[in-house]
Amino acid sequence: DSVLSKASADAAVLDKPGSVAESYGIPLAVLLELTHRCPLQCPYCSNPVELERGSAELSTDEWKRVLSELAAIGVLQVHFSGGEPTARKDLVELVQHASDLGLYTNLITSAVLLTRERLAALADAGLCHVQISFQGNEPLLADRVGGYANGHAKKLEVARWTRELDLPLTVNAVMHRQNLHQLPNIIEMAVALDADRLEVANVQYYGWALKNRAALMPTLQQIEDCTALVEAARERLKGVLAIDYVVPDYYALRPKTCMGGWGRQFFNISPSGKVLPCHAAETITGLAFDSVRDGTSIAEIWRDSEALNRYRGTGWMQEPCASCAFKEVDFGGCRCQAFALAGAAAATDPACALSPLHERIFKTAEAEAEGGGDRFVYRNFAGGTAET
Ligand code: SF4
Ligand code: FES
Repeated sequence: DSVLSKASADAAVLDKPGSVAESYGIPLAVLLELTHRCPLQCPYCSNPVELERGSAELSTDEWKRVLSELAAIGVLQVHFSGGEPTARKDLVELVQHASDLGLYTNLITSAVLLTRERLAALADAGLCHVQISFQGNEPLLADRVGGYANGHAKKLEVARWTRELDLPLTVNAVMHRQNLHQLPNIIEMAVALDADRLEVANVQYYGWALKNRAALMPTLQQIEDCTALVEAARERLKGVLAIDYVVPDYYALRPKTCMGGWGRQFFNISPSGKVLPCHAAETITGLAFDSVRDGTSIAEIWRDSEALNRYRGTGWMQEPCASCAFKEVDFGGCRCQAFALAGAAAATDPACALSPLHERIFKTAEAEAEGGGDRFVYRNFAGGTAET
């Protein structure tokens, strides 16, 4: 079709100097949110609060066309994510298609819907890597956080099958006040499961996590202990387990370089085909994101999208970012966090100590960590139900 032939035309100049991939700065890896449907209800889910319904999702053929186009413009890796990507009946077919195109494929999953047969079929289709999320190291807490009975036991089982099928495994552990005490055991669990990598990801507060901030915010002491623990484990487990570590930036002095800078190194495609600079971008009102359904090639969307260009680079910045020495280091932090906390996406991320809001944010974090209570608003299509 026309979009694909445009992509092929783009691809035809790939080998020449100033090719599409080079001149458009196409990211090497793209995240595909196949669906927002998910059997788990994690209160810190990175999906937007306004979840896209199953009926809006791209069809099998549309996703295949997206994969072909991504391969044609120079993308090398695709991460199948969600929601829960295994909720898509066509996942094996999509992995096979990606694999036939020579793309490296990663499955980011909660694992609870997988059978051994389906995992084996994914491996046969060319799946290269599996990442399984854990909510703790034992069922009582983990199943409460995920809002899904017997989920933890199922995850352990799927992690074992993953290694039996000789697929590399990453354990992803999202950490917060209610499970940080289990981190030592989570590290041991990752080693016992023969994972190559553990992601210790402290919750970032947008979307569902922002709704649940008071129940999730760690204390400063917990974060200091967590950092020391990760540093010691990295040293002790050199060559056994690589550990990635994401700190919660409410407690930092400088913000994170979110997504490597808006529209610089990363995009994801939403279940209905919108090309987004990050998973939370639709929380910013007043931005219209282009869709792969619009008839424009993905390379052109990446280059020309008004929404992607709005906060690209440094030209949009206000003070204190505009004259700051770090502006090309962190690109002003996170636009979604600036919008959520300062009410303007072009504001300095309040995680930065130079933001006029920083002190208030830090104090809020401390107060919520001490007195926030344990109740979660669970993530679901009904808008969440508070439970203890
Ligand atoms: Fe980064 Fe802006 Fe803070 Fe400077 S003022 S450190 S550019 S967020
Ligand atoms: Fe959207 Fe940081 S999550 S810019």
